[in-house]
Formats: sequence, structure tokens, C-alpha cells
Amino acid sequence: MAVIVTEKVVKTYSGRITALNGVSLRVEKGEIFGLLGQNGAGKTTLVKILLGILSTTDGKAELLGEPVGTTKTRRKVGYLPEDHRFPEYHTGASLLEFYGTLLEMSAGDRRRRIPEVLKSVGLEGRMHSKIRTYSKGMKQRLGIAQALMHDPEVIFLDEPTDGVDPVGRREIREMLDALKARGVTIFLNSHLLGEVELICDRVVILDRGEIIRQGTVAELTEQKGTFQVGLAEGELFPEAEVRAMGYALSRLRLLWEIGLRDGQSIDPLVDFLRAQGLRLRHLVEKRQTLEDLFVQTVEAAEPGVDGGRPRRKRVRTRD
Ligand SMILES: Nc1ncnc2c1ncn2[C@@H]1O[C@H](COP(=O)(O)OP(=O)(O)OP(=O)(O)O)[C@@H](O)[C@H]1O
Ligand SMILES: [Mg+2]
Repeated sequence: MAVIVTEKVVKTYSGRITALNGVSLRVEKGEIFGLLGQNGAGKTTLVKILLGILSTTDGKAELLGEPVGTTKTRRKVGYLPEDHRFPEYHTGASLLEFYGTLLEMSAGDRRRRIPEVLKSVGLEGRMHSKIRTYSKGMKQRLGIAQALMHDPEVIFLDEPTDGVDPVGRREIREMLDALKARGVTIFLNSHLLGEVELICDRVVILDRGEIIRQGTVAELTEQKGTFQVGLAEGELFPEAEVRAMGYALSRLRLLWEIGLRDGQSIDPLVDFLRAQGLRLRHLVEKRQTLEDLFVQTVEAAEPGVDGGRPRRKRVRTRD
């Protein structure tokens, strides 16, 4: 079931700045979906549209089978805004009490839920301390707790691990996995591509308001036809012979990178090395990181770069 569907969504600010220019995407139930893009690409604008905070200029957006922005769906959605600031005179617990009340949770539910959700983000020991005494990472965890307070079906997280240390990041990843296992749909914006690579099932790359790439992380980072090969220490790689077999070859310190040409397979090379009595110690198909892919994709879309498309003209009208 699709939890989020957008069709050709356009958003123009003050009739001049086109932040989104025909964005169509689907997010399925229980998916961890990553929205990537450079500063100003339109990520936050899209999230705000899905939350009903902003209206679309054109196109259609649905959440949980309803048009975005209905009161009914809002109750099923959690949101961690980017750069949130909570009133510092609250404690973690009193802040959630406040949000729980806004969400019209019953007193009993709030009492049960507050320690539970704070425990899930590792803040149970500090729930009665003032927010002013929290570290940046603790504030971020509290933000996530706030987004999860009412046990939503869908959560939107804008930079969830911002300011969180590596151990905390791992804990957040584990928490997101546990939510996914329960069928919660997670929509994530992040600049931390290493993180996105570890968490997300599927990603979309947004560039100046348009989708320029989408797919599963595995699909996007696959680099078909390039292998890295390494022999046991002290063994000499038969460079000339391998070249003569028609493979493209380049050296990477202790490893060799083998490029397959059309229709070629890696197997004859492995057979050859073995037949020479060489001991193969490393053989993997190369993957690029999500960061490599992101930089390449975005650069290819930049104006002035060979093969790039020209920068889309912003719609300009005189005020
Ligand atoms: N309220 C606004 N009024 C006018 N223009 C806006 C407004 N909000 C955003 N924009 C513009 O819309 C475009 C997309 O902004 P948006 O905040 O959605 O980007 P983003 O992808 O979230 O960027 P970042 O990674 O920096 O958070 C930018 O050109 C931005 O300047
Ligand atoms: Mg943003």
C-alpha cells in the first residue's frame, strides 16, 4: 500500500521561486525512504507540503490515502522539523506532556507513553532535567521522542541524526529499524549520505525541485562490471597476461581493479590466476558509495558541465 503519493507537485513561492517543479513519487508502507538533495533543492518544501503546512501550487499529494492536510491524517503523522527549538524551561517529560495534550492524548496514555518513548531514545535518566541542561544530541533525541509520542503510522524526520555522536546515531538507526519492523513508514531528509546508505531502503535525489535519480540504495550504488582483485602477500600480479586477455586494468595500491569489456566475465581471469598457482585473497564487485553517486549525479545536472542539462529558468514575474 502506498502511504505517500505525489503527482507532479509544483510549489512556487510568491509566484517567483519554483521550489518544486513536477515531483512525482510513491512511498510504500513500512519503507524507510530517503530524500536527498543539495541545500535549496526543495526537500523541506516537499515535507511541509506532505504535512499540510504548505499548500501546493499545482499537482496532487496524498498521505495515507487522503489528500494531505486533513485533521484525520495529521493525527497519524509524527514530524521532527529541522533546527527545532524547544522551550528550554521545559523538562523532557513536561515537553512531551505538552505535546501529548496538543495531540489530545488522554492523561492515562500520556502517563504511560512518556517514560516509554523517552526510554526508546535513551533519555529516561534525564527526563526530569530542564532542556537547557541537555546537550545538542540529547535535544535531537528529544525531538525524535516528540515525533513518536502518539505512536504515529508515518514519521517525517528532517536531519534526525544532526548533532548526535556515532554511538547515538547507531542507536537511532536501530530505533528506526525497529519502527520499520512494526510497519511504521519513515520519510527521512538527510545530508549524511553514509547514514542514509545504512538506513534507507529507497532514495530519491532532488535537484532544483526535480527528481533526477531514484531507486533502491543497492541499485544506485551498484557498479556493474568492475571488480577488485588481490593476491596473497608477496605474489606478483601477472599484469601483462591479464591485459592480453582483454581486461581493462588499473592498480589500486595492493589491489587491482579489473574492468570488464562488453560480454566479458570475471571467471576466466579467476581460472587463469588459479592455473598460475596464485592465491586469490580478495575478489569483490565494486560498489560506489551513495556519496559518489550523489556528487556525480548532481554535478552532471549542473550547468556548464559537459553533458549537463542547462539550469532550469526560474519563473520570474514583476511584483
Ligand atoms: N518561505 C519561503 N519563501 C521563499 N522562498 C523559499 C521559502 N522557503 C524556501 N524557499 C526557497 O525554495 C527553495 C527550496 O528550499 P527548501 O527549504 O525546500 O530546500 P531544502 O532542500 O530543504 O534545503 P536545505 O538542505 O538547505 O534544508 C530554495 O530556493 C529556497 O530559497
Ligand atoms: Mg531543508
